[in-house]
Amino acid sequence: MYIAHTTADLRTHLAQFKHPAFVPTMGNLHAGHLALIKQAKPLGDVTVSSIFVNRLQFAPHEDFDTYPRTFQADYDKLSEAGCDVLFAPTEKELYPEPQTFKISPPTEVADILEGHFRPGFFVGVSTVVMKLFTCVFSEAEGKRTALFGKKDYQQLMVLKRMVQQFALPIDIVGGETQRADDGLALSSRNGYLSAEERIEAVQLSLALKQLAKNYRLNANNVAALEAEAIAQLTARGWHPDYLTVRRRADLQPPQVGFSMGGQSSDPLVVLGAAKLGKTRLIDNLEF
Ligand code: PAF
Repeated sequence: MYIAHTTADLRTHLAQFKHPAFVPTMGNLHAGHLALIKQAKPLGDVTVSSIFVNRLQFAPHEDFDTYPRTFQADYDKLSEAGCDVLFAPTEKELYPEPQTFKISPPTEVADILEGHFRPGFFVGVSTVVMKLFTCVFSEAEGKRTALFGKKDYQQLMVLKRMVQQFALPIDIVGGETQRADDGLALSSRNGYLSAEERIEAVQLSLALKQLAKNYRLNANNVAALEAEAIAQLTARGWHPDYLTVRRRADLQPPQVGFSMGGQSSDPLVVLGAAKLGKTRLIDNLEF
């Protein structure tokens, strides 16, 4: 696997390829990232990943300083998974001066759910992803692909819209959430959980499953169902930010129709975010 620490070196190396398939990451890789690398392989003529812990997407009170940095292990995992090129810039390389030009996604997608509880998060994500795209795709011609996990469902939607509105010639592809045997969605932040919390952690995905099931049984009072789901997790010692039923297309609340026996005819997703001890977990389930 070729490793580039500078944009210039990355571009020189990628000049021999036309169709990069790109998996951006913040490192501390798990099976979810590696599944994206495997999914990327047939989609381009070179598979590229990046490791960059992006300060811009962390609020001052969040875990930027303690975010796990496990470069050697990540390098080994990426090589093993068949990644061809790793871009691992320093902060000074990617942000040589304060990044004052930023991508500002519209409030209706960026200020709800994650964006409501993590103000500025999607500005930070969109800005770094745009910047990484200009580094990785500048020498490409024709098909360009970037892959993101569906666990960060709203991130995937925001980035799809960014690419669409800026008419970037890049296909954004979602990868299925990878789960541990008990059903916990894999996440770099799972490593923060104590042994006891790790056992409890699966309750978030169970609560989402239950909420989807309850919604299918009675779609008329979604607010009450969401409140019940939040109360149940709270009773187990969690601090939920939201557990909610949304339309997949725009993450707005479903419109209840009459033709489907009170069910929305839109494809739906349940999404949740909650703190267990000091660890904030997110998950979702399409239904
Ligand atoms: O999902 C992530 O790991 C990050 O938000 C991303 C897309 C690499 C941007 O820093």
